[in-house]
Formats: sequence, structure tokens, C-alpha cells
Amino acid sequence: MDNPLMLMIPGPTPVPQQVLLASAQPPISHRSPEFRNLMADLTADLKWLHQTQNDVLILASSGTGAMEAGILNFLSPGDRVLVGCNGKFGDRWANLCDQFGLATERMTAPWGKALDPEAFRLHLQAQPNPPIKAVIITHSETSTGVLNDLETISHHIKAHSSALIIVDAVTSLGVCPVPMDEWRLDVVISASQKGYRMPPGLGFVAVSPFAWQAHATARFPRFYFDLGKYRIDAAANTTPFTPPVNLFFALQASLAMMKAEGLTRLFAHQQGLMQATRAALRALDLPLWVSDDAIASPAVTAIAPAQIDPELLRSHLRDQYGVVIAAGQDHMRGKLIRIGHLGYMCDRNILTTIAALEATLSDLGYPFQPGIGSQAAARCFAQPS
Ligand SMILES: Cc1ncc(COP(=O)(O)O)c(C=O)c1O
Repeated sequence: MDNPLMLMIPGPTPVPQQVLLASAQPPISHRSPEFRNLMADLTADLKWLHQTQNDVLILASSGTGAMEAGILNFLSPGDRVLVGCNGKFGDRWANLCDQFGLATERMTAPWGKALDPEAFRLHLQAQPNPPIKAVIITHSETSTGVLNDLETISHHIKAHSSALIIVDAVTSLGVCPVPMDEWRLDVVISASQKGYRMPPGLGFVAVSPFAWQAHATARFPRFYFDLGKYRIDAAANTTPFTPPVNLFFALQASLAMMKAEGLTRLFAHQQGLMQATRAALRALDLPLWVSDDAIASPAVTAIAPAQIDPELLRSHLRDQYGVVIAAGQDHMRGKLIRIGHLGYMCDRNILTTIAALEATLSDLGYPFQPGIGSQAAARCFAQPS
């Protein structure tokens, strides 16, 4: 039987059939009235998702391309930047800044722990000169399953500096609130293959008026990723270069589905998937790497199994039961496994994953009470939301 693998990784995520079918249309001219209507719709709906009045621009790139655009449009060589590093993606930002010749300072926390908002306040107060040009934060750190306290960090940054706040919301946008205007975020980066419930291929950069001021004086060379071009063209419901129009169709369909659900229900649903996953893993006595629920990412949950080889568990789960989960990254490879639960998923995805995980544990001789994980997850789903 042709049974596709079930993706339970933190992106790419499953894509609804409506979204896949929307992309399976003949491409249209990107210089046509139909395309302008499409762009107008997308722009309005992206603002809704970002809870903002700001520009939200669409790039043909992965999330990392959008991150790069977030650096080269607003900063200049030698600028002081402060980067929150508590996992692979925070480290990626710091490396990117180093590559661009920025004066990069790292605010670190151990992998699996959250960035300390207070440490940002102290750092900004203790070393005000020359002014830090941007503070860069990964909201949901996908490598560890930590959700950083972006709201409080942002509050401190705005209270104690004139820095831009650049945010990687790649696995938080569409998964939990990222109210750009309320939290005074200046640049928000995301990518289609995560909370958007879409295939990979689009990057998004939302830009505040304060960031546009920085754009006017920023001195890195830029061409394809010059967001100024995208801004001017988006205002006329067009794009500077040939866009992947079929992905734009998909985006229209996925945003329409999300709007029909509403942000409150969408976020509550994602939270419920996380809670059920965590309850099941706890019941199975598989150590949650982020044990504190208050900082758990609603996108991904990592476990650090002590009695069982994580890579053996992962390959058995995939090969025997068709469920794909993610490995640890960088130095945590072989030590962690990560279950993605963001995007287009429902109770069934979690219950199936936990049942397949139990079957795997049983096959590998791990001692546990059969059914206990599934029961814990099912109990969570049975609670009224
Ligand atoms: C938090 C975070 N930032 C950035 C990226 C990079 O995105 P991409 O792989 O689309 O370049 C990812 C990808 O998983 C991510 O999870």
C-alpha cells in the first residue's frame, strides 16, 4: 500500500488538501489584474496574521533568506548588534551577523533554557555606547523547544535603548501570538513551511516604520533582497521580480482557512496539541528536555531519552510505523528527539504518533505500561477547550 510517511517534524509540516489543490492551477501572469487582486488579498491577510498595520513582504526564499534580508536591509557594517543565543537558530543569527561584519554580541543561555529578559535590560543599561543598533531574538527556538519571553524582552529593549527589535518568528507565527504592533517589534521573519500550513518556498519579512527609517541609511549592498523594492511594489499590489505564483495561490488558501478559524481558536488548538504531547511523554516517563511548561514552545517538544538510543528510536518509528520525527541538532544530535506539533494537525496526529511511539518503545524493550501515553493524550483532548 502506498502509505506516505506522517510528518511530525517542526517543518515542513503537513499541508491541507485545499492548499495543495489551490497551488495546482495553471500559473497566471504576475503583471495581470488577477495577480493584483491576489496580492491585495494576501497583503491584508498577512497583516491580520501578524496583528499589525505594518508592511508584510513576501520573498521567494526559505526562512534563512528572510533572516538575511532582515540584516542587510536595516544595518550597516560595524553596527553593534545583540543576539539572543540559546539554540541553533539563535546561533545562526549570530553567525550571519559575523559574516556581515557586524559587531556581534551574544546574550547566551544554555540550550534548553530560556533567554533571561532581565539580562537584556542589564546589558543595555551597562553598555549604552555606542548604541546597539539591533537586538535579535529567536522567539520559538526550534532546536530545543523553548519559547523565549519575547514580550518582556521587547519591553526592556524599547524602555532602555533605541535598538531595532528583529525577531525570528519562523516557528511561532501562526502558532502562538506574535502581535507585532502591541509588542513593538520592528522586523518579524517567518517562512511558509511552518505555521502557515504551506509547502516550503516563501519567506516573509514584516517591517515597522522605525525599521524603514533604518533602511533609508543602511549601507549593505542589496539588490534581490532590497525590501524597499518589495515595499513600493506591494503598495501597487505587485512584486519586483517573478514570484512563485503557485505558492501565492497556496498562501491565499491557507490564510483563508486560518482566518475562518480565527486567531484565538488557532492558538488554543496549537496549545492543545502541545499539552497533549507533553502529557503523553510525561506519562511514558520520557524526560522532557524543557520541563518547565511556562517556556515550552507550542511548535515542538524535545525529549532526551536516557534508557534508549534516540536515533534508534527515531529510525524504528519511521521504518516500522511511518512516523517521522526530528533528531537533535548540532551537538545535541544523537541525544535528543524532537516531535513537531505545529501547523495543520489535529488530535489524530498526536494520538497516532504517541501510539506508534509506544509500539516502538515496546519493540525496543523499554519498560512502560502500554497505553499510558495514549491515555494521557486522549484525556487532554477530552477536556473542553
Ligand atoms: C526558528 C527557525 N529559524 C530559522 C529557520 C530557518 O528556516 P529555513 O530552513 O526555511 O531557511 C528555521 C528552520 O527550521 C527555524 O526553525
